[in-house]
Amino acid sequence: MAKNIIVTGGAGYIGSHTVVSLIENGFNPIIIDDFRNANRIVVEGLKTILNQDPLILEGDVCDAVFLSSVFEKYEPEAVIHFAAYKAVGESVAEPLKYYQNNINGLMNVLNNMLKHNIKNFVFSSSCTVYGEPDGAKEVTEETAKNLPSSPYGYTKWMGEQIIEDVFNANPFLKIINLRYFNPVGAHKSALIGEFPIGKPNNLLPFVTQTAVGKQEMLTVFGNDYPTPDGTCIRDYIHVCDLANAHVKAVDYLISNQNGLLENINIGTGKGTSVKEIIQTFVKETGVVLNWQYGPRRMGDVIEIYANAKKAEQLLGWKAELTIADAVRDAWKWELKLANQI
Ligand code: WQD
Repeated sequence: MAKNIIVTGGAGYIGSHTVVSLIENGFNPIIIDDFRNANRIVVEGLKTILNQDPLILEGDVCDAVFLSSVFEKYEPEAVIHFAAYKAVGESVAEPLKYYQNNINGLMNVLNNMLKHNIKNFVFSSSCTVYGEPDGAKEVTEETAKNLPSSPYGYTKWMGEQIIEDVFNANPFLKIINLRYFNPVGAHKSALIGEFPIGKPNNLLPFVTQTAVGKQEMLTVFGNDYPTPDGTCIRDYIHVCDLANAHVKAVDYLISNQNGLLENINIGTGKGTSVKEIIQTFVKETGVVLNWQYGPRRMGDVIEIYANAKKAEQLLGWKAELTIADAVRDAWKWELKLANQI
């Protein structure tokens, strides 16, 4: 009998790709989503990819009664918690919206796990908890967590603190905080992908929207950074590799008898500059891209990328897809959204 796995925010970008990986690995994902930050086209995409209807329960993770009823009925083996707002710029403009949803949602999930004796938990954390690394730009899980530069970042930083305190009070829990670097790309079928609401904040969706004509011009935020080509460096990880990391994390938790709390970087272990992303996109797609240099963006970290050894040693996971794969898949998805394929 396939084990039930609750996936909050499972209709979202990373959540939907994780649902595909969970089913491919013999689990039964149960999506909790209120579609406030997800598009229903994902449901059709999942149906086609999976050749089955995904189990979706529409509801708010901040609704304690709803969440308790779901945990009661499905008795999940584990919970993967994605449901949260994640736009850095929006969080600066609307901090209370972010604290209200991201912190309350997490606390509600943890409360109900304790109430229903569910021990296995994977938290969607982020490299944003490192802030601007003081020393080496390649960060390990032991790299000091600097204070984040946005309310969004604080919800992840505080989220990990809440989780640590709950774990210390309930050491039978088995918890992994997956610290994502920069998720990019889409499923190779182009049936699910990223749905930026309004103007994209993140780089690759802005590149593909500019290439398809939805945006006039891509602006590179700063070319005077202390990096080889003057633009910021990140660790861009294909969303399908990221999805597989969640399955490995669930497997690891279920296979362990004792309580545990682990922070794990999920990245490729390689830094790529903004300019290199643009060059790779143009090379892989043959599309002429309208772009220009502009001023630096407030709050941008200059350079950060993962030391991903712990994920390989502990979970047996490492990234397999390349930046070229990611830009090709992202472009195919953009063309699909524009009904051009
Ligand atoms: C990457 C680089 C920009 C847009 C954030 C969150 C992180 C995660 C991913 C949720 C930067 C440059 C971007 C543009 C540009 N969020 N850029 N022109 O800021 O590294 O990370 O999103 O999971 O937690 O912190 O990602 O894609 O916004 O920016 O030049 O139009 O691309 O300046 O150097 P970021 P990003």
